[in-house]
Amino acid sequence: MKSDVILGLQWGDEGKGKIVDYLAEKYDVVARFQGGPNAGHTLEFDHIKHVLHQVPSGIFRSSTKNIVGNGVVLDPVIFKKEIEALKEFKIEPFYNLFISKRAQLILPTHRLLDAAYEKSKGDEKIGSTLRGIGPTYQDKTARVGLRVGDIISDNFKKKYEKLKTKHISILDLHDFEYDLIKLEAEFFEALDYLKKFKLVDTDYLINQSLAAHETILAEGAQGSLLDIDFGSYPFVTSSNTTCAGVCSGLGIAPSKIGQVYGIFKAYCTRVGEGPFPTELNNEVGEKLRRDGHEFGATTGRPRRCGWIDLPALKYAIMINGVTQLSMMKVDVLDKFEEIQVCTHYRLKNGTLSDLLPFDLCTEHINPVYKTLKGWNTDITEITEYNALPEALIEYVKFLEGELKVPINIVSVGPNRKQTIFKNNHFHKSV
Ligand code: GDP
Ligand code: IMO
Ligand code: MG
Repeated sequence: MKSDVILGLQWGDEGKGKIVDYLAEKYDVVARFQGGPNAGHTLEFDHIKHVLHQVPSGIFRSSTKNIVGNGVVLDPVIFKKEIEALKEFKIEPFYNLFISKRAQLILPTHRLLDAAYEKSKGDEKIGSTLRGIGPTYQDKTARVGLRVGDIISDNFKKKYEKLKTKHISILDLHDFEYDLIKLEAEFFEALDYLKKFKLVDTDYLINQSLAAHETILAEGAQGSLLDIDFGSYPFVTSSNTTCAGVCSGLGIAPSKIGQVYGIFKAYCTRVGEGPFPTELNNEVGEKLRRDGHEFGATTGRPRRCGWIDLPALKYAIMINGVTQLSMMKVDVLDKFEEIQVCTHYRLKNGTLSDLLPFDLCTEHINPVYKTLKGWNTDITEITEYNALPEALIEYVKFLEGELKVPINIVSVGPNRKQTIFKNNHFHKSV
């Protein structure tokens, strides 16, 4: 048995949560492999709208095991709030949620450090979600981090104090003001809460599942262009958001990766700072933001909006080995006479390229657009692929021709039901 993967191909918020929730009923296991509470994955069904940050998006499917893998950085305080919020929906995830003992813990001082580092960067700030993601992964690679499994050991307090002292000395260097007393009280309370969950060796659990022919869906957070290695560095997150992250973040061997579902919006958004070649700082961008409700699910910040960027998408497809695509938020383009698609970049020396440059920040590139006909029709009630307007089917065909990967899912609204499969195509690893 192989593990399938869902991941974002742009700068995050592509609609991963919706598709994971949709597909979860077809899988025995859903597992998050990286990131942490910087993620905000929105699920909508039965008049429920829910945003998940650290809990996998299979949690609303009672027969699905949900795993928080070793590649994740976990904030116990946010975790507790998230679980408490699920109770309103009659979800009691004590029995079908498993957390890796190897996942790194986000401490209150990691969050403070995130804020201190961002403040010190001034105009060059990353636009971090301020959830402590960067500092926690930094401590992981510096080999001083604390892991979920540590919280049950006798010397946890000692380890915690040691790391906290180190953090405080850095915060003092930054002249950063803080009040730790309340933050620490809620942190330790949340750790007691976390101890009630199944803190396990998820690497064994997942490989046992694979051996038992259970189906697994790995859920990515953020997007490929925010990947620490392949994203628009330094305006990236601190983990491997791409397919390789599944292997290191869950303990799944590369030979056990099956289908890779690449999720992308029919246009493009970015939240936070950093380069965005097709960004529209005009009324078209405003319209996309308004019609697409493009405001961050985690921080509420307005998302920057622009046209779809094919060179960037092709790059993400290549790095991830994407086998099939889901095009999201297609309905947001319902009211356009014409749609623009960036097919190439024009470089400073005048040549055309469809390759992503080494440094999007310093390279002077101008997007080159192809104009396609809009469908200018409400598609939100359509349930069959063949009933979609002709201009939209042409848009899909054009993208498939460029991207060389089939678009098997077209999403026409936020609701679970507003999901259209092309000719009932759905390939799952069996
Ligand atoms: P994620 O981080 O990739 O899971 O995406 P987010 O949840 O942060 O952002 C996607 C937003 O778009 C959410 O508000 C979803 O409810 C919404 N959404 C998802 N698919 C569609 C769609 O096809 N059409 C519309 N209009 N909204 C969608
Ligand atoms: P989901 O999973 C969109 C962005 C931040 C910032 C940069 C670094 O919902 O798609 P970090 O807090 O990770 O240090 O921030 O990455 N970012 C996201 N943007 N969606 C996300 O997650 C994101 N997670 C982080 O805005 O630019
Ligand atoms: Mg999101």
